[in-house]
Amino acid sequence: MHKVRILVLCLMMVVLSGGLYNGFAQETEGDLIVPLGTITLSAPDGVEAKKADVDFPHGVHFDYNCKTCHHSWSGTTEVVGCMTSGCHDRTEVVKNDEMASTKYYKEAFHTQCIDCHKEIKMKNKATEADKTILAPELLPEGPTGCNECHPKD
Ligand code: HEC
Ligand code: HEC
Ligand code: HEC
Repeated sequence: MHKVRILVLCLMMVVLSGGLYNGFAQETEGDLIVPLGTITLSAPDGVEAKKADVDFPHGVHFDYNCKTCHHSWSGTTEVVGCMTSGCHDRTEVVKNDEMASTKYYKEAFHTQCIDCHKEIKMKNKATEADKTILAPELLPEGPTGCNECHPKD
């Protein structure tokens, strides 16, 4: 599984293909192993990364439907990585081609990760600005600044 190191391997959820949760079931064919911890996302092979790898806390995002991110997942097949061949596997920008530019892995990650976090921030700003709400409840936010995702050491 190139370039993606799943750090917290011991924290795993085994969902049987039939949809039954079976505690510490042995991994058998058809099981779906879902990493609950942090997944380190890095640039694909052959790309000289300018920024540090990104620690993505997968489990923090499970309030969302899996298909929000795994948008081509059928729900029964294997979940494939974002940079799988034919998906977001381009390593360079494609100028003047909007369809092709989402094939560029960086574009795909930035669009998905940052856009969602920005949207939440905008909702919170709107909530705060709305003086008719007496006790505003703000949503938990995700990072939008470069160094929050790509830490400087
Ligand atoms: C906020 C986005 C997001 C949500 C929501 C999400 N995932 Fe993920 N998931 C990812 C990313 C990003 C990766 C790393 C993909 C890669 O390696 O290219 C990943 C990796 C995985 C993997 C490992 C895939 C591999 O390459 O081996 C599995 C399995 C998985 N997710 C299942 C799920 C399931 C099941 C759910 C719903 C409970 C879910 N994910 C919800 C973003 C998400
Ligand atoms: C559909 C919306 C959505 C998408 C897509 C999404 N996030 Fe998030 N992210 C959130 C929310 C909501 C939180 C706050 C969760 C919380 O604190 O409970 C969050 C929190 C985080 C945090 C901070 C976690 C913490 O414990 O403080 C990181 C880091 C993060 N996201 C990275 C990513 C990366 C990297 C991606 C893309 C692979 C991504 N997110 C995609 C909604 C999203
Ligand atoms: C929400 C998290 C998040 C934020 C915020 C974010 N990035 Fe990224 N970025 C990623 C992910 C995920 C990747 C793909 C994995 C990788 O290449 O490390 C990526 C990839 C990249 C890449 C290509 C790989 C490399 O290292 O050369 C560059 C360059 C980059 N980001 C720069 C930036 C800059 C500049 C900003 C601020 C404007 C920024 N990123 C903000 C998550 C983020």
